[in-house]
Amino acid sequence: MNVVILAAGQGKRMQSDLPKVLHPLAGRPLLAHVLATARALEPARLVVVYGHGGDEVRAAFAGDRVEWVRQDPQLGTGHALAQALPALGDAAQTLVLYGDVPLTRPATLRRLAEAAGSGLAVLTVTLDDPTGYGRVVREAGRVARIVEEKDASAAERAIREVNTGIMVLPTARLAGWLGALRSDNAQREYYLTDVVALAVRDRVAVSSAQPDAPWETLGVNAKAELAALERVFQRNAAAELMARGATIADPARIDVRGRLECGRDVAIDVNCVFEGEVSLGDRVVVGPNCVLRNVRIAADTRVEAFCHLEDAEVGAACRIGPYARLRPGTRLAEEVHVGNFVEVKASAFGARSKANHLAYVGDSVVGRDVNVGAGTITCNYDGANKHRTVIEDEVFIGSDTQLVAPVTVGRGATIAAGTTVWRDVPPGALALNGKTQVARDDYQRPRKKT
Ligand code: UD1
Ligand code: CA
Repeated sequence: MNVVILAAGQGKRMQSDLPKVLHPLAGRPLLAHVLATARALEPARLVVVYGHGGDEVRAAFAGDRVEWVRQDPQLGTGHALAQALPALGDAAQTLVLYGDVPLTRPATLRRLAEAAGSGLAVLTVTLDDPTGYGRVVREAGRVARIVEEKDASAAERAIREVNTGIMVLPTARLAGWLGALRSDNAQREYYLTDVVALAVRDRVAVSSAQPDAPWETLGVNAKAELAALERVFQRNAAAELMARGATIADPARIDVRGRLECGRDVAIDVNCVFEGEVSLGDRVVVGPNCVLRNVRIAADTRVEAFCHLEDAEVGAACRIGPYARLRPGTRLAEEVHVGNFVEVKASAFGARSKANHLAYVGDSVVGRDVNVGAGTITCNYDGANKHRTVIEDEVFIGSDTQLVAPVTVGRGATIAAGTTVWRDVPPGALALNGKTQVARDDYQRPRKKT
C-alpha cells in the first residue's frame, strides 16, 4: 500500500514557534513516531504532506527515505491528500495517517487495511465526549458519511462514534473523488471526510475498524495533549519492561526516550531517565534520580542515586555514585568504584580501580588496582589544548593531588597527599613536593570586637 502522512497543519494551539510535528514525544519528533509506524507496514510509497514550518520539518528528517510534497496554502485534509496524488504509486490501497497522531499501532492499521479490502475503511472510536471530532453517520448500521462538528446538526452531534482521520482508500478512485470535493462548508475547506459519502454514492464498499486502545488514535493539538500522550507512551514502555522481567519501583516515574534493554533481574528506582541506546546487564541496579544516555552497563553493577552517565561503558560489578558523573568516552573495566562528586571524561579505568570522592579525571588512562585519592584533579587543559594523563597499574594517588598533563605515573608509584605532579614519576617511586609545616605557639587568634 501507499502511506500518506498529513502534516501540513499549523498547530496554532501549541503556542510555539516549533512546527507541531517536530515537538518531541519520548525524545523523538511526533512525525518520527508516525514515520516508524508507516515503515513497519512496508509501504510501496511513503509520502509526507508538509507545509507549515516546511524547511525545518524537512531538515529534521534529512536523509530519511520519504517523498515530501508541499501543500501551500493549506485548504483542508482533502486538498492535502490531493497534493500527494502525483507521488502515489499504483498500489491498490492508500493509507492516510496524521503527522500529529503518534501512537497508532501497526497491527491496528493492518486490520483497517484488511477491513477495507478493495473499498474504503475508516478507523473510528466511540468516545464519551466526542467534542471536536467528525461524527460517523450510519444508515442501517453501515457508514454513510462523516460530518464535521461545525457542520453537524444537533442530532448528529449526539453521535459518539467519531472519525479518527485514519483511512484506507482505493488509490484508483482518489483522483475522481478528491477532484469532486467542494469547500462549501463551515470551515471553507476541502474535507477528506467527504470522500466517504462519494464512495457510498459510487457503490464502493465502506467499512470501519476500531483500535484496541483509544489512545492509539489520540492526536496532539495542544501541550496538555502532548503531555498526556507522553504519559501513555511511558506507561506502555514501563509495562513492556516489567513484562520482560525488570523491576520498576514506580511505572509512573520512569522515562524512556530511546531504547532501553534490560538483562534479568534489573531493578530501576524512581525518576530515572533513559535516553538513546541504553543497555543494562543482569542484576544491574539503578538508584533513584539517574540520567543515562547512550550507556552500556555490564552485570551486577550498581548505579546509586543522582548519577549522570553519558556515552559511557561500564564493566561488571562496578559501583557508581551516588552523585557521580560519567561524561562521554568513559570506559570502566570490572569492579571499578567511582564515588560521589567524581567526574570522569574520555578516560579508561582498569579493573578494581577506585576514585571514591571528589575528583576530576579527564583524558586519562588509569590502570588496574589504582587508588585515586579524594580531591585529585587531572589538569588536562592548558587553556588551548587538552593533554593526556597516564596512571599505570597499582598506583596510589594521595588526596588533593594535581596531575599536570601530559604526565605519566609509573606502575606502582605513590603520590603523597597534596602533590602537584608536573613531571613523570618513575615506577615504584614516591613523589612529593617539598613543603614545610610550621607550628607557631605565639599565635593569637583574632577575637570579635565587643
Ligand atoms: C480531522 C477530520 C475529523 C476528525 C479529526 C480527527 C477532516 C475534514 N476532519 O479534523 O473528521 O475527527 O481530524 O483528529 O478531515 N492537515 C494538512 N493540511 C490541511 C489541513 C490539515 O496537512 O490543509 C493535516 C494536519 O496537519 C493534521 C491533519 O491533517 O495532521 C488533521 O488536520 P486537523 O486540522 O487537525 O483536522 P481536524 O479539524 O481536527
Ligand atoms: Ca486535529
